[in-house]
Amino acid sequence: MQTGAPGTHPVETTHAVSSGQRIGVPREIFPGEKRVATVPEVVEKLIKLGFSVAIESGAGVGADLSDDAYRAAGATVVPDAAQLWANADLVFKVRPPTPDEVAAMHEGQLLVGFIWPAQNPELMQQLTAKKATVLAIDALPRTLSRAQKMDALTSQAGVAGYRAVIEAANAFGRFFNGQITAAGKVPPAKVFIAGAGVAGLAAIGTAAGLGAIVRANDTRAEVADQVVSLGGEFVKVDYEEEGSGGGGYAKVMSEGFQQAQRAMYAQQAKEVDIIITTALIPGKPAPKLITAEMVRSMKPGSVIVDMAAEQGGNCELTEPGQAVVKHGVTIVGYTDLVSRLSRQSSTLYSSNLFRLTEELCKTKDGIVNVNMEDEAIRGLTVTKDGAITWPAPAPKVAPAPAAAAKPAAAPAAKKAHGHGAASAPMAGNKLALLFGVAALLFWLIGASAPKEFLSHFTVFVLACFVGYMVVWNVKPALHTPLMSVTNAISSIIAIGALVQISPIAGAVNRPNDWISWLAAAGIVLTSINMFGGFAVTQRMLAMFRK
Ligand code: NAI
Repeated sequence: MQTGAPGTHPVETTHAVSSGQRIGVPREIFPGEKRVATVPEVVEKLIKLGFSVAIESGAGVGADLSDDAYRAAGATVVPDAAQLWANADLVFKVRPPTPDEVAAMHEGQLLVGFIWPAQNPELMQQLTAKKATVLAIDALPRTLSRAQKMDALTSQAGVAGYRAVIEAANAFGRFFNGQITAAGKVPPAKVFIAGAGVAGLAAIGTAAGLGAIVRANDTRAEVADQVVSLGGEFVKVDYEEEGSGGGGYAKVMSEGFQQAQRAMYAQQAKEVDIIITTALIPGKPAPKLITAEMVRSMKPGSVIVDMAAEQGGNCELTEPGQAVVKHGVTIVGYTDLVSRLSRQSSTLYSSNLFRLTEELCKTKDGIVNVNMEDEAIRGLTVTKDGAITWPAPAPKVAPAPAAAAKPAAAPAAKKAHGHGAASAPMAGNKLALLFGVAALLFWLIGASAPKEFLSHFTVFVLACFVGYMVVWNVKPALHTPLMSVTNAISSIIAIGALVQISPIAGAVNRPNDWISWLAAAGIVLTSINMFGGFAVTQRMLAMFRK
């Protein structure tokens, strides 16, 4: 179904003449919000897709983007919000619309932005009364691999994690990296990150990049490898309990686990200089992981950045929106970390919306089609023409990388990556037919081929079978180390050179000394390949070990 009718609004002329629908981008009016839903470089791309773009004057100012920059990109700059809302077929926003903004909407309009339908039931009612179609970017089914390019939750949390480290560095009175100077030795800062989701992982990478010693903990043990690969150390809680609640989110842990976790966090609080907390289970209040007692035990001048401040905070002493000093520790509870890097977050967010627009307008003619058969679009659509369509049924296809190793789940995993019907499991009778044909072929070869060929052929077939079984059972993540180890094994050709250089072989058949020298050079080169290959494999495998 297509939304709205294009080109029905008699308003200002755009630079590019477009027969497509008009996208309107209002200025964000939530206090302190500096992001904007579209940046000039994305305006150009949207115009190429067939749309015209109108932007409210001053919408980009918070992200250092002037009206002129938008004009140069081909957008129309509209002086006020009312005119913008009235004339747009689609509206791109960051924050959920306020009641005034909803009032400015018209029937059939399509709105894209953060909506948080679970937390905003009243807003959902207002939007349905307007008979609008609303795509909530926060409702994207994140488990679909195709949805990654549209994943604004991830892009924004990544910015927030980075900014959290910058805020910590700002409040901390020392270097992050260790230094040896003429004036003496400076130890590196120790940073502990609680919760290694998107924001936590970004914080780990940033803090490690600045040279700090980084440790992290999460209830989901599966993130340990990612922590290590970003330069951190995963600190385990001394209690066996599976922490994954499915879909990449955590579950509420047992009392026994929480006690053991508190003991470990209390120990870390005494040792580290900076704590960044990001722990959260969607829809639940933030778990209180850092008690007042732990804050008291920290060294004076230490810093806590509590990213979960908006959901009540992971630290008992956090004051949302504020940076306060308590017991000599600076506790940063800013809730606008993404807005504090508004140019970057706006650029990433508008790229996410552009990717979504591409999915909505596959015909590239500036007309969107909200295709409810498409799982990603279905998941995003929270109201459609005045009816609530949220929550969407769970996506049928989950990529589940862990399950990909299991033979039974492999076809489903492949399908998610776009191989479609070609990868469907082979029907039983088809498989039997294939085996029958292969058996007949082998019988024919066996009956007619010479004896020597047959022995080589048997070895060849067995080698193919063993090779296939070995490679097929290796997880895709381990394919790179697998390639390097097979490369190292290929240095078996060194045996050829060894035979040439050996005194026995040389005594019997060595026409010239230069053959020995060539063989020696061959041994040196293949040795580099062999030992280097094994060493590199060893290092790569170490990254995957817990
Ligand atoms: P996420 O869901 O990807 O990560 C949260 C992580 O916390 C998960 O890995 C989960 O396993 C872990 N976790 C849950 N309970 C835990 C516990 N008891 N102990 C240890 N780990 C636990 O979420 P994301 O996107 O990384 O966001 C993290 C936090 O940052 C959220 O609170 C979010 O609202 C906040 N945020 C704050 C911003 C700000 O400006 N202050 C901006 C963006 C995000």
